[in-house]
Amino acid sequence: MQDYHKFLDEILIPEAELKTRVRELGEEISRDYAGKRILAICILRGGVMFLTDLIRHIDPPVAIDFMSVSSYGVGSRESDGQVRITLDLTTSVSEENVLIVEDIIDSGNTLASVIELLRTRHPASIEVCTLLNKISRREVDVPIKYCGFEIPDKFVFGYGLDMDEYYRNLPFIGVVDLEKYEADI
Ligand code: IMP
Ligand code: MG
Repeated sequence: MQDYHKFLDEILIPEAELKTRVRELGEEISRDYAGKRILAICILRGGVMFLTDLIRHIDPPVAIDFMSVSSYGVGSRESDGQVRITLDLTTSVSEENVLIVEDIIDSGNTLASVIELLRTRHPASIEVCTLLNKISRREVDVPIKYCGFEIPDKFVFGYGLDMDEYYRNLPFIGVVDLEKYEADI
């Protein structure tokens, strides 16, 4: 794999800024859900790092579960609207206050499908918390209650987000220079 320094265009959100914003989101969620319990549903795999940091700042009782959906394969940078559930929840969402935790909302296709599916299972409520929002790319409208950062239309990686499955471990959000990135095939 390439050393990320070779294709890092710029650091868009440094680690310290992520920490501060994630804490703020956790505090906001804690206020909104005071006296209730939360079922946080993390969309694998990109949302994992955000979820684990976020729930450390949530006071009301919170359970977690995971769901995996595939919107596009390695080498492709856009979802085609054909979203498949590849791993389903093990918890019932019926009567739960569901909080979907996502890394990034781009076209909105992934989240729109997930919300549509979860609604059929009758949760008490359903809200979305996304770390990043690429609003200029939206194709389908999705209701976002909590958003960490609005970002420009650039492909980003780090802090859970991947480039062909790698670099999720980096503690910052970086912009990829797609001309310098060499896919490892
Ligand atoms: P959407 O269905 O187009 O909204 O795509 C959402 C999914 O695409 C996210 O959950 C990410 O996994 C992925 N994605 C979208 N933009 C980026 C990006 O800039 N970097 C890494 N993954 C991305
Ligand atoms: Mg991805």
